[in-house]
Amino acid sequence: MSISVVILAAGQGTRMKSSKPKVLHEISGKPMLFHAIDAAVAVSDDITVVLHHQAERIEAQINAHYDNIRFHLQDAAQFPGTGGAMKGLHPKHSRTLILNGDMPLITEASLRALTDGDADINMSVIKLDDPSGYGRVIIENGEVKEIVEQKDCTPQQLEVKTVNAGIYAVNTDLLERYIPQLDNNNAQKEYYLTDIVKMAVEEGRRVHPVFVAEEEFKGVNSKLDLAGAEEIMQRRIKEDLMIQGVIMRLPETIYIDCRARFEGECTLENGVSIIGEATLIQAHIKAGSVVEDSHIEHSDVGPMGRVRPGSVLKNTHIGNFVEVKKSTLTGVKAGHLAYLGDTTIDEGSNIGAGVITCNYDGKKKYPTHIGKNVFVGSDTQLVAPVTIEDDVIIAAGTTVNKDIQQGALAISRSPLKIVAGFFYKFFGVK
Ligand code: UD1
Ligand code: MG
Repeated sequence: MSISVVILAAGQGTRMKSSKPKVLHEISGKPMLFHAIDAAVAVSDDITVVLHHQAERIEAQINAHYDNIRFHLQDAAQFPGTGGAMKGLHPKHSRTLILNGDMPLITEASLRALTDGDADINMSVIKLDDPSGYGRVIIENGEVKEIVEQKDCTPQQLEVKTVNAGIYAVNTDLLERYIPQLDNNNAQKEYYLTDIVKMAVEEGRRVHPVFVAEEEFKGVNSKLDLAGAEEIMQRRIKEDLMIQGVIMRLPETIYIDCRARFEGECTLENGVSIIGEATLIQAHIKAGSVVEDSHIEHSDVGPMGRVRPGSVLKNTHIGNFVEVKKSTLTGVKAGHLAYLGDTTIDEGSNIGAGVITCNYDGKKKYPTHIGKNVFVGSDTQLVAPVTIEDDVIIAAGTTVNKDIQQGALAISRSPLKIVAGFFYKFFGVK
């Protein structure tokens, strides 16, 4: 069945206490609105996002990531509220699914469940021990009779624990008829979308309650909610990946961006962060390491290694306290304490402890190229731009500020002076 989707995202989100629009706050690496759009894209080819507050900024960000999303600007001054958001909107298909932009945990499966059946309106409901804040749903003989907003409830209605989760699948022709008839005669002086339920019931139409998982329908209104949604999203991402074959030690201590991709048998130890669009193939990331927007294949990193954006590691070992940035390392060993930035290193090369690529002169960044089978001794500084050809030995403590030709030794060292007995003379002992 073809279905249109409308995502309501015009609300200000005051409780978020942020200059950033609420729906652009990120969960596991993606704005929360994008999570809702992704679920919508899976079920529909006609998606409209309703905007008002910071509409331009949100629209630009959506257009940078998605094609074919329609936008509808709510006249929030004249028609505030969830019903006002729908005014002037014309979905393409015969049934319309209405979602909230601040519900990032919604799944495609739940959206499909809401579009099943032949009722005129399917609406999502949840049973809560504490229903405060939500619209109460009055159900008689298995069908919805009315939704009463908390601020409009009688004391008796306040006791109702079945609440409106805020997502509906509605016959589009009913929607087209009911939306122009909405009024704002209520405590909040807003146009309530929920009033379409009353209108449908009055016409003898069937409004069916679909009981849904509370977790998926949690709205994010504050930074506290944001952190709660993040925890749930992380649990889902990690469960899926473990089922797919990723080994995780103490998974609750690991963070994984929803855009990360894993192939083969990867291992993530405790305290690992995988950020951005990282790809890991047969990789072992050891405790406390951070990997961001990089490709890691048949390699191991850490403990406490850092792979920054734009890096490609293949058949490579990165040890503790090694930082790699925008570098391509193939068949390399860098076991301890190094900074490798804007660097390419070829097969068989060994990077000693304390090696630093000096890639920045305060104005610009410069590259370092290291060939095959190069031995870079400990505490070497490579002053970029610089090229080290194949089969080179660089002695410990060398400052390399010239290119080095194939097969050479490079050594720069101030002579060591040893003064016999100086200790005793200096301290006046013995
Ligand atoms: C709404 C429901 C309530 C339900 C609750 C579930 C109404 C009248 N009430 O209440 O029954 O229990 O959701 O979370 O619908 N929005 C706009 N334009 C507006 C106002 C809101 O686009 O003028 C958008 C918001 O950005 C948000 C969604 O609609 O994504 C819901 O708005 P919100 O203010 O959170 O609705 P509630 O008062 O919580
Ligand atoms: Mg509200």
